[in-house]
Amino acid sequence: QKGGYPHFMLKEIHEQPEAVRNTLFEVSDIKKIVSQFPEFKRVTFVACGTSYHASLVGKYLFEGLLGLPTDVILASEFEFSEKAIDPHALVIFISQSGETADTLKALRIANKKAKTLAIVNVLGSTATREADYVIFTRAGPEIGVAATKTYISQLTCIYLLAACMCQDEELLEELQKIPDCMKAVLSLEDEIKEMAGKYKDAQDFFFIGRGFSYPTALEGALKLKEITYIHGEGYAAGELKHGPLALIDDDVPVVAVVPPGKSHDRTLSNVQEVKARGARVIGLGSEDDPVLSSEASDMVEFPHQIPELLSPLLYVVPLQLLAYHISVQRGIDPDKPKNLAKCVTVE
Ligand code: F6R
Repeated sequence: QKGGYPHFMLKEIHEQPEAVRNTLFEVSDIKKIVSQFPEFKRVTFVACGTSYHASLVGKYLFEGLLGLPTDVILASEFEFSEKAIDPHALVIFISQSGETADTLKALRIANKKAKTLAIVNVLGSTATREADYVIFTRAGPEIGVAATKTYISQLTCIYLLAACMCQDEELLEELQKIPDCMKAVLSLEDEIKEMAGKYKDAQDFFFIGRGFSYPTALEGALKLKEITYIHGEGYAAGELKHGPLALIDDDVPVVAVVPPGKSHDRTLSNVQEVKARGARVIGLGSEDDPVLSSEASDMVEFPHQIPELLSPLLYVVPLQLLAYHISVQRGIDPDKPKNLAKCVTVE
């Protein structure tokens, strides 16, 4: 059942290139859905947990590619924004299970006021029956409590949707390259396992990134918290000096997500700030980044040609593996973290 892997989570991490490939087949259905869309003036994403992080990537994408004002609202907070729902908005609900209570409650509120789209992994789930439009993520069943391949498939759907809405054929072609790039990233597992051994006794971690890398930082921190029970804080790198820098010292590893592109130089200066306070930095960046490599105590290198826009699909993978290996090395079962359920059906 685990296909030779010790845990479902590891199997599901390794299934991600296949999950992307399968999700890419959704493109024709997505084109059909997009052809039925009325004109939208804004996009609002609503989700919880990991699906919320996928939504944040959607914000940068929809604003960057389509110039559409885009907000992202936690499903559990959505009722407090009810009066401000724009009838000309597309309200997108992202949920692996399609059964999360907060998400369904928000969907029912939004259905009364605007067009709704659900991006869901489970066929026939409640969200698929109630939204105006539905897109399937095709990740296949996910057994591990921590979302991994469903996150990657959600991201793939969001990229497909944005590409179809702005008829960006080049982006559609770029997406076809992701499965092979992801396999190359997965081949770094032994290095990441060794890294896990060096950091497994830390009590607090920071994960930092800007723009497209900010949701990756949040997701890396969430994975760490849920399966290792270590405190991990995801932060927009530019916000560090507005408070949390006070917490940084040589006991706090900082994972810095620094792909080449618009955010690179400023995140690099944040790396230098935390280093000056003694932090050990785990750098995620291009193979061709001597400055980051010289600042980082440990480095995960990615092929240089990955554009920043696509980096969320790849840069999160080492963070899933890091959390997984720290969890196992701390004697925890990553498939069944304490206090958590795969599907949260209470508000
Ligand atoms: C984290 C995780 C949760 C879910 C959240 C939403 O690894 O799995 O944070 O992402 O409970 O669940 P869905 O996507 O089913 O609505």
